Amino acid sequence: MERVINFNAGPAGLPLPALERAKNELTDIGGSGMSIMEHSHRGKLYEGIHNEAIALLRELLGVGDTHHVLFMQGGASQQFAQVPMNFLTPGKSADYIITGHWSERALEEAPLAVPGAKINVAASTKQDKTFTRIPSQAELELDPNATYVHMTTNNTIYGTQWFHEPEVGKVPLIADMSSDFLWRKHDVSKYAMIYAGAQKNIGPSGVVVVVIRKDLALAGRKDIPVIFRYETFAKNNSLFNTPPTFGIYLVRNVLAWAKDLGGLPALEQRNREKGRILYGAIDAEPDYFRSPVDKAARSLMNVVFRLPNEALEEKFIKEAEKAGMVGLKGHRNVGGIRVSTYNAVSPDDVKTLAAFMKEFSAKNRP
Ligand SMILES: Cc1ncc(COP(=O)(O)O)c(C=O)c1O
Repeated sequence: MERVINFNAGPAGLPLPALERAKNELTDIGGSGMSIMEHSHRGKLYEGIHNEAIALLRELLGVGDTHHVLFMQGGASQQFAQVPMNFLTPGKSADYIITGHWSERALEEAPLAVPGAKINVAASTKQDKTFTRIPSQAELELDPNATYVHMTTNNTIYGTQWFHEPEVGKVPLIADMSSDFLWRKHDVSKYAMIYAGAQKNIGPSGVVVVVIRKDLALAGRKDIPVIFRYETFAKNNSLFNTPPTFGIYLVRNVLAWAKDLGGLPALEQRNREKGRILYGAIDAEPDYFRSPVDKAARSLMNVVFRLPNEALEEKFIKEAEKAGMVGLKGHRNVGGIRVSTYNAVSPDDVKTLAAFMKEFSAKNRP
C-alpha cells in the first residue's frame, strides 16, 4: 500500500528517509551481519551511533557545555515523577504553570513523588474545563524561592503553544517539550531542564530526551534509587543500563534527516509555512471551521478545530481517510478535529489537507 499522510498526535509519522535507512540496515548494519538491535550496547558500533545521536542533538540545538544531553526511558510521564523526586524535599516548594492535560498530569504526580512538598499552581488557563490560551506574564504568581518552575511548552490536546519563555528570575525553568521539541531552535540557556518523549518530533516511543544543566543534574537528591537520578545518566553517558538501542538508532536517523534538510532553521520555516496554510484554510471559512484557540497561542504542532456538528466531523474524518489522510480525530477530552503537523509532515501534506477541507465544506453545508 502507498504511504498515507499521517497526522497522528503521537506516536506520529516519521520522515521516510529515516525509515528507509532503517529498512536497508535492518538485518545487517555496517557490514556486521547483525541488526543494530542485536548489538551489545557496550560495543563500538552501537556506541558510535549513540554518540552520534547525542552530537547531532547538541549541534542542531546549539547545546553548550553547560548542559548534558541524556537518553532516558519511561516516557514523559515518568519525568512527571522524576523531576520532583530529584529536586524537591518535604517542606520545599515548586511552581507549576497549568496550560493543559499534560501539565495537570505533571502537577498531580509531584505530591505523590514527594509527600510534604508544597506544589503551587502559578497560573492556570483552565476555563470551562478547557484550555484555549497561554497565560500572560502578569498572570504568573511565581515564588522567587521555589525550587523550580514547571511548564508544558505545547499543549498537544488543546492546540496551544508558548512562543516565548516565561520570565522566572533565578528559579530553574523545567519544560515538558514532548510535543514541540525541535520545532525550531530553542534557547537552551533559558532552561535548567527540558524533557521530551521522542514519539512526536524525533523518533519512536520508548526514548525520552533530557537536556539538563550540569550543576542541576549533580545537585539531585542522593536518597532516591540510583536508576531515577539524572546524575546516574549524566555520569554514564546514558549507558548506565541497557538503553533502548533501536529507538536511539532511529532518533539518530531522524536527526541526520533534519540536518540534511538544513537543521532547525529549515524546520522552523517549514513548520511556520504549514501553520500559514492550515490556519489560512480555517480562517477562510470561520463559520465552518471553528478554531476555539486564542489566535496568539495557536499551536504549530497540533491544530484543533470544530465543524458545525459532530456528524460532519465524523464524515470529515472518514472521507479524509479514504483520501489517504489519517489521524485527524481530536482527543477524546475535546472531540472535533486535530491535525498534528510535527516535523515529518511536509508543507505539501498540509496543502493536500487544506484542499480537502475546502472541497469538503463546499459539499457539506448543514
Ligand atoms: C506534552 C506531553 N507531555 C507528556 C505526554 C505523555 O507522554 P508519554 O506517553 O511519553 O508518557 C504527552 C503525550 O502525548 C504529551 O503530549
